[in-house]
Amino acid sequence: MEGQASNQVTGYLLFSLGTAVIGSLQFGYNTGVINAPEQKLRSFFNATWVERYGQEISPGVCTIVWSVAVSIFSVGGMVGSFSVGVMANRFGRRRSMFLVNCLAVIGGLLMGFSTICSSYEMVIAGRLVIGLFCGLFTGLTPMYVGEVSPTPLRGAFGTLHQLGVVVGILIAQIFGLEALLGSDKLWPLLLSLTVAPAVLQCILLPFCPESPRFLLINLKQEEQARKALVRLRGSEDVSKDLQEMKEESAKMAMEKKVTIPELFRSAAYQQPLLIAVMLQLSQQLSGINAVFYYSTGIFESAGVKKPIYATIGAGIVNTIFTVVSLFLVEKAGRRTLHLLGLGGMAISAVLMTVSLLLKDIPAMSYMAIVAVMLFVAMFELGPGPIPWFIVAELFSQGPRPAAMAVAGCCNWTANFLVGMSFPKLEEVCGPWVFLIFTTFLLLFFIFTFLKVPETRGKTFDEIARSFGSAPPAASSPVEEAPASASTAVKASPVKEKV
Ligand code: GLC
Repeated sequence: MEGQASNQVTGYLLFSLGTAVIGSLQFGYNTGVINAPEQKLRSFFNATWVERYGQEISPGVCTIVWSVAVSIFSVGGMVGSFSVGVMANRFGRRRSMFLVNCLAVIGGLLMGFSTICSSYEMVIAGRLVIGLFCGLFTGLTPMYVGEVSPTPLRGAFGTLHQLGVVVGILIAQIFGLEALLGSDKLWPLLLSLTVAPAVLQCILLPFCPESPRFLLINLKQEEQARKALVRLRGSEDVSKDLQEMKEESAKMAMEKKVTIPELFRSAAYQQPLLIAVMLQLSQQLSGINAVFYYSTGIFESAGVKKPIYATIGAGIVNTIFTVVSLFLVEKAGRRTLHLLGLGGMAISAVLMTVSLLLKDIPAMSYMAIVAVMLFVAMFELGPGPIPWFIVAELFSQGPRPAAMAVAGCCNWTANFLVGMSFPKLEEVCGPWVFLIFTTFLLLFFIFTFLKVPETRGKTFDEIARSFGSAPPAASSPVEEAPASASTAVKASPVKEKV
């Protein structure tokens, strides 16, 4: 398996994956970018207010404008992620990515010109459009990556999406330093910089192939699909890949494209949908963004002297552990890493609570730093990367886009809720606040242990069949069921589990 897998990694495949994950980088960048320039933005809101109304903005109104500018990003994300299915089916994976970049240009320009036009509304509108853009990419990139990757490396390459995200966050943290683009004058440039990768991706995408699965299964263009596969795999012999897709395609002819209401109605999809949604929730309700959005404040309250550098340190640890996960995921498996990550995060959250409670002891500020780093590292082992790509694995071609839309929207909604409620929760619970996340982490640990199957090394079809969401062969046991197109029947609920 190993040899075959490494043969399948070609420069062209890496180029195509690299181009797609520019979308992930954008999501990370725009997640991280708003933190550092908070004070500059607040002063800008005030200056606009004075110019328009001849008086200073009240602190309450200023905070409202600020919170709206921050959180409207997630609202855009919810809408964007929910629209993924429609776009991906209509325009294809590659063309959708291309088109979606228009949003980055519009959003980036709105924010970039906000000071020149003295309009804080443009910052808010820009953040909304950028949220839409990122929401679409959180579906499109994992879908494309999952569909072009060879089965034995689907998890490792799936992790590239998260790697793009964390590198994006890190770049935003570094560029946001006062000495770089986080200054009074340059912050509009910091926010609009997202236009550059969008343009770059538009230049590169025409050189990438459309997803062969989309070509063959959705468009019935077998020859095009074969050509794309030959280039991606670097070998004329792509019969195995093609055969597998054709089997899925034969079933698709019966199964057709699945809409979101159908996804909810069909009993066959209930189990994988529940798993997909719970994994997304486990990612967000782990509290990771409480750290990423508010880490500077957390470090400050734990008595850390230079919190901004500790925040950047967290970004670096974040990146390193995503790379570790990339190498481990095909060996250790998704399930094990997810469990390890959730458990490790629960322990780190307890450590964080202890360090906040005992902050009067000087050494505790070090413990706070260690606890945050451990929290982030454990997140990236499993709960960071796995939920994003496992959704594409849990569903076959028919229901995949709809499932990604639902799962992505749940992720963004939970992200929004944590982002909005954390400051209030912190006010109410004080140093105990991270125990809320510990509770969630333990619940998701139990769920994962009981319900989440291992998908490593299995074809999409095998995974779907194990849930009964692809037509099974008569009554034969799941693992032995032949992947035969001739047995295709309408998807029916089957009780077997993995
Ligand atoms: C994941 C989450 C995102 C978070 C990031 C941190 O991609 O979806 O919300 O900010 O990880 O690394």
